[in-house]
This record gives sequence, structure tokens and C-alpha cells, in this order.
Amino acid sequence: MTISIQRTRWHASGWWGRLLGMLFFSLLILAGCNPGDENNAGTQDVASAADAVTIRHGEASYMMYCANCHDPEAEGFGDAVGNLTTLPSDLTTLKRDNGGEFPAERVYQSIDGRIDVEAHGPREMPVWGNVWPADEADQRISEIVAYIESIQKPI
Ligand code: HEC
Repeated sequence: MTISIQRTRWHASGWWGRLLGMLFFSLLILAGCNPGDENNAGTQDVASAADAVTIRHGEASYMMYCANCHDPEAEGFGDAVGNLTTLPSDLTTLKRDNGGEFPAERVYQSIDGRIDVEAHGPREMPVWGNVWPADEADQRISEIVAYIESIQKPI
């Protein structure tokens, strides 16, 4: 009984079935377009797409909150430096200055600032960890760290 119903439906949709079949087949061909690729190439693409989105979000936050002091190129001469006693750090040489390894954790903590302020008292850079709501701060800071890492000058 079940079988005959399935067969009837399949036959009834003969034309559509064939069209769908062709579409499915073309998709298979498209999906298999890079026969030389390793299996994990797809995974890498997904990962780098996610990274790209994170970096774009970080860039947007950077331009909104940081560029006025650190400048849009992140080299430390933004429009607001005249009002500061310390020059904002050049954020494009952090990797170079740290022996070729990007100091992600330190950068995160300097942006967050909550620990730093407890240890050293007030600083010129805002304590960003207190500027954004607690449930938002971690994501925003991580995105900005990813952006800053993406703009490091070659060593
Ligand atoms: C009001 C100006 C100002 C703004 C806005 C500002 N900074 Fe800073 N930043 C500074 C100054 C000045 C320093 C140097 C250290 C100090 O005196 O606080 C600094 C230091 C840093 C450091 C430490 C670099 C190192 O050598 O480890 C990082 C990272 C950083 N800023 C990132 C950011 C990010 C990301 C933002 C935006 C969310 C931002 N800053 C916004 C002024 C600013």
C-alpha cells in the first residue's frame, strides 16, 4: 500500500520530478566543482568567512570608538591627540614589538581596562569594559582584537 502511493506520487510528478532531478544533479556538479580540494578546505572557508564577519564588526566598532585617538589607520595620531598627555599607541606594530607574536590577551586587557584600573588607577584611555553593557563588552572587545590583529604590519 505504502509503496503504491509513493510510486503514484512519483509518476504523477514525472515532469517536475525530472526537472527537480536535473536541478539536484546540477547542484551536485557545482558542489563538486573543485575535485582537487581536500575535505577540510570547506571547513576552512567557513572558518575564514566567520573570521571576516568578526573582523568587519571589529572594524566598525574601532572606527566609531577608537579612531579619534588612535587614528583610522591605527597608527596613533587621531584628531583627539592634542587633548592627551600620552600619545595613543600605534596599534599596527603590536605584533612586531612583541617578537612577532600578536599579544591578543594583553590587547584585550588594555582595551577592557577593568583589571588595569584596579591595579594602576585612572588612565587616559576610557575603560571600555565599563562603557559597554557587561553582556556586550566581551564580544565587542574580542571583535576589535580580531580587527587589530588583522591590520598588523609585517614583522
Ligand atoms: C581618549 C583617547 C583614546 C581612545 C578613544 C582610545 N584610546 Fe587606546 N589608548 C589611548 C592612549 C593615550 C593609550 C596609551 C596608554 C594610556 O595612556 O592609556 C592607549 C593605549 C591603547 C592600547 C595599548 C597598546 C599597547 O601598547 O599595549 C590598546 C590596545 C588600545 N589603546 C586600544 C584602543 C581601542 C581598541 C580603542 C577603542 C575601543 C581605544 N584604544 C580608544 C587613548 C585612547
